[in-house]
Amino acid sequence: MTMQTKVIKITDPAESATDLKEAARILREGGLVVFPTETVYGLGGNGLSQSSAEKIYAAKGRPSNNPLIIHVHDPAEADKYAHAGDLYDRLAAAFMPGPLTVILPKRECIPYATTGGLDTVAVRCPDHPIAQALLKECGDFPVAAPSANLSGKPSPTVAEHVITDLSGRVDMIIDGGESDIGLESTIVSIDHDHEGEYLTLLRPGAITADALTCVCERVVIASAVLEQLKEGERPLSPGMMYKHYAPSTPLVLLDGTPEDVLAFLQKEQADRSCAILCYFEEMPHLKHENLFPVGGKDDLATQAHTLFSLLREADKAGASIMYAHLPPLDGLGLALYNRMIRAAAHTILQVP
Ligand code: TXA
Ligand code: MG
Repeated sequence: MTMQTKVIKITDPAESATDLKEAARILREGGLVVFPTETVYGLGGNGLSQSSAEKIYAAKGRPSNNPLIIHVHDPAEADKYAHAGDLYDRLAAAFMPGPLTVILPKRECIPYATTGGLDTVAVRCPDHPIAQALLKECGDFPVAAPSANLSGKPSPTVAEHVITDLSGRVDMIIDGGESDIGLESTIVSIDHDHEGEYLTLLRPGAITADALTCVCERVVIASAVLEQLKEGERPLSPGMMYKHYAPSTPLVLLDGTPEDVLAFLQKEQADRSCAILCYFEEMPHLKHENLFPVGGKDDLATQAHTLFSLLREADKAGASIMYAHLPPLDGLGLALYNRMIRAAAHTILQVP
C-alpha cells in the first residue's frame, strides 16, 4: 500500500478554510486524513462507511475487531449515531468538548466495521480548534479515528511521528503542532445494576476518576486498567487486549523511594548502557548519557505531555534497557501508570 500523502501545516483554521474543505472532501469520499486533537493525533475516515473503516485498519496494521472512536463537533450530535441518555448529557455538559470518550448503544447508521462488530459505539467531541473546524466542515458524517500510529507504536503527539508511521498510507496529514495533553482520552461506559446507573472507567486519561465522580457518584475502574488480563479473559474494551506501545528496548518501571531509585539508577549507569526517563530534579545527579527528562517529579501534566515522544526517542538510543519511574495511582497518575505498565509489559522492579 503506497499512495501520495499530502502534508499540510495549519496554525489558524480560519486562514486555512480551503485546506480544511479539501480534507473534509477526502473524508466524505472515503479517503484517510490525519488530524491533530488535544490528546493525540487521529487517523480519520468516514464513520458511516464500512470501506473507510477497513482502510483505517489496513493503514494502521490494526486488527479489525478493535473498534474505532467516532468524533463529532458538537456533543449533541452523538444522538444521531447512538442512543445517548441523561447521563451522557450530564457528562457532555461537564467535559465536552474535551478528552472524554463515552461508549453508547449504536444506531443502525454506524456500520459494524466501525465498531469492530460491537452493538456499541465510542463517541468523542475533541477540544482542538483544527479538529473542531474539520468536524464542522464534515457536517453530515462523524469522523472515525483511532490514534494515528502504526499498531504497536506509541500514539503520535507531533506530526513528525505520524509522518514516520503513516507516510504513503494516508491521503493527507494535517500538521497542527504538538498535542496539548499527550495521552489518549478517558473512556467510560454507562452501565446499570440493581443499585442503578454507574460509569465503568475503561481507559484512564486527563478526565480523572475523581472528576467523573462529580457527575456520577459511582465510578468503577475496569480491572484491565491496572492489571494484566488473565489467560483467556475477555476485556470490556477490546483495545485492552493489545500491548499497544511496545518499545524494542525493554522498559522496566522502578518502584521505591526517590532516594533508592536514584541510587539504583546511578549504579546501573556505572554498570551498563541504559536509557533513563528521569525527573528534571534528578538530572544533575546522573551522567548525561541517554537521559530523557519527562518533567518535574510532581508535574504529571508535563510527564503526560512528553511520555510518548520520549518513549519513541529513548527506544532509538540503542541502550540495552530502559528505566522509568512507576507513576502514582491517583489523579492523572493513573493514566500514566496504565500506559507505562503496558509499555513495560507489566515489568515492575522494587528497589532496593
Ligand atoms: O484520545 C483519543 O481517544 C484518540 C483521539 C484520536 O481521539 N483516539 C484513540 O483511539 O485513542 P484508539 O482507537 O487508539 O483507542 C480507542 C480505544 C480502543 O482501545 C478501543 O478498543 C476502545 O477505544 N473502544 C472503541 N470503541 C469501543 C466500544 N464500543 N466498546 C469498548 N471499547 C471501545
Ligand atoms: Mg491507539
